[in-house]
Amino acid sequence: MTTERKAAIITGAAGGIGKELARRMAERGVDLVLVDLKREAVLAVAEELGLNETNSLAVAADVSVESEVKGYVQAALDKFGRIDYFANNAGIEGPMGLIEEQSVDALDLVYRVNVRGVFLGLQHVLPVMKRQQSGAILNTSSLAGLMGAPGMSPYIMSKHAVIGLTRVAANEAAPSGVRVNAVLPGTINTAMMRKIEANSGMADAFKTANEASTPLGRYGEPQEVAAVMNFLLSDEASFVTASLYTVDGGMVA
Ligand code: NAI
Repeated sequence: MTTERKAAIITGAAGGIGKELARRMAERGVDLVLVDLKREAVLAVAEELGLNETNSLAVAADVSVESEVKGYVQAALDKFGRIDYFANNAGIEGPMGLIEEQSVDALDLVYRVNVRGVFLGLQHVLPVMKRQQSGAILNTSSLAGLMGAPGMSPYIMSKHAVIGLTRVAANEAAPSGVRVNAVLPGTINTAMMRKIEANSGMADAFKTANEASTPLGRYGEPQEVAAVMNFLLSDEASFVTASLYTVDGGMVA
């Protein structure tokens, strides 16, 4: 039996879903490179999860800036010598408003993080995994990548784009034995959802309506998304690629 350790990069690691994924992966002994905008926030996550300097690295990086993406990929290689798993997960929600009320600046901002950031991550991680002839990537899309709803056009467009990118990347990577999938969370209890509720201007009604349109009748918890992500970013999912995994309490049923 091989005892070789695995190494993962998680972006958006200081956020609700990223932190719970880090917890799950740490529990199964994966070395972690935790990436988020602020180093203190990532260090706080590492401390909360009981990680140390041997099994983890905290990196401050903006996923939309190419030099910083190169930086976190190189930091992972310098520290662990390989990248087995990549959670391309950082994202922002952007403003609420009808299409005619949205600004082009808001569209550019959301695309910068949610599309350019995911694209850059793929650009710099894929060559490493192709060289290794192994690896798994998981892009975080959203149920908003499958469905339309009024009021969040930049976000919804960006998450549709992540699905397209996932499909292209999965096709391009498969000959090298590298898998690429997407996870599509529904409404999940994190800081992002609190912001979306607040931006809706009717937080309670927004939450009630969302719960009512979810067959399981509630928001999901970040741990419930992390469990599926942890599976897809493991060798248990060795024949799963180009797949879209909804974790949404049945919302698309
Ligand atoms: P969150 O707001 O708790 O975490 C997002 C993290 O990404 C934050 O720590 C933030 O600092 C980081 N981040 C934002 N911009 C960044 C940048 N330019 N560079 C590096 N890091 C950056 O949100 P949550 O819920 O954990 O979101 C994680 C992913 O899940 C996002 O891609 C989000 O769009 C997606 N998602 C979330 C859903 C929800 O209901 N919470 C539903 C569907 C998808």
